[in-house]
Amino acid sequence: MTQQRRPDGSLRHLLTLEGLPRPELEALLERAQHFVRRAGEPAPQSTALAGVTVANMFTEPSTRTRVSFELAAKRLGADVVNLEVQLSSRVKGESMLDTVFTLEALHVDVFVLRDAEVGVPTMVAGSVAPHVSVLSAGEAHVSHPTQGLLDALTVLQKKGRCDGLSIAIVGDIRHSRVARSACHAFQTLGVSDLRIIAPDALMPDAGEFKGCARSADIAQGITGCDVVMMLRIQKERFANTTIPAGDDYFREFGLTAGRLTRAKPDAIVMHPQPMNRGVEIESAVADGPQSAIRLQVANGVAVRMAALEVLAAPLAARQRR
Ligand code: NCD
Repeated sequence: MTQQRRPDGSLRHLLTLEGLPRPELEALLERAQHFVRRAGEPAPQSTALAGVTVANMFTEPSTRTRVSFELAAKRLGADVVNLEVQLSSRVKGESMLDTVFTLEALHVDVFVLRDAEVGVPTMVAGSVAPHVSVLSAGEAHVSHPTQGLLDALTVLQKKGRCDGLSIAIVGDIRHSRVARSACHAFQTLGVSDLRIIAPDALMPDAGEFKGCARSADIAQGITGCDVVMMLRIQKERFANTTIPAGDDYFREFGLTAGRLTRAKPDAIVMHPQPMNRGVEIESAVADGPQSAIRLQVANGVAVRMAALEVLAAPLAARQRR
């Protein structure tokens, strides 16, 4: 993994949660909690990033994550530009860097990158000027650090802790950066019983998700869990599928109100969205009393504010001099 840190040890880039020590993760989450507001209250406003310019560069379609990064940067007082870049995969690496260097010349200080190819955020992080930071907004199937943070924050808010919890992640684990980053966060924060539940074709390779129990049976897999996290089937990440389609998938792996009774009575249900209602989750569950899905969305802005603030702290200090 590329060095995410500056020579003084502070966090410069956020490309993965893997290896972030627990106190650092907790400090980020605590800072995020500081930016959480109840519905109806005014959104948080800060000038921490005044004079800093943030570019959101997304080469994969995204509404939720991009908007949430944009609001986070604006609420910290940053200047923000949004680019939806369509690049053919062959020339991608090079043209991505060209675009990055152009934006750097326009005084962009922070790049928020989403890309379908493995390694692009790391490559950009290794190529930019020393004062510039890179924040991954989703790298292929590999990592989605701010999603992992918002998932952890949601669990902390609802359960008061991660230590000792049982958490089941269900669905397309194999292609999911959400599952990988959630797993890094949960394991660091002390989740003792982490389970991954998927049809064989959507299970990750044996060397991955160390320490997680595996199951192909959702009813058995979620039994006694505190948290059930559902995932979308990432059809765009694989060509040949041997998984049951639509209705059949729902019958075998969908989260229904009936199945949810196997989890603890106070279990919460999570989903990173976009959801396919009637495929991985029943609407009654998605919108039901145990759902924390909207809370996840709300927490997205708060964790992105915290991450931007931490990474750009030296830039902001430069601005104040
Ligand atoms: C996730 C993603 O892009 O990885 N969504 C998100 O960040 N809002 C999950 C998904 O696309 O299924």
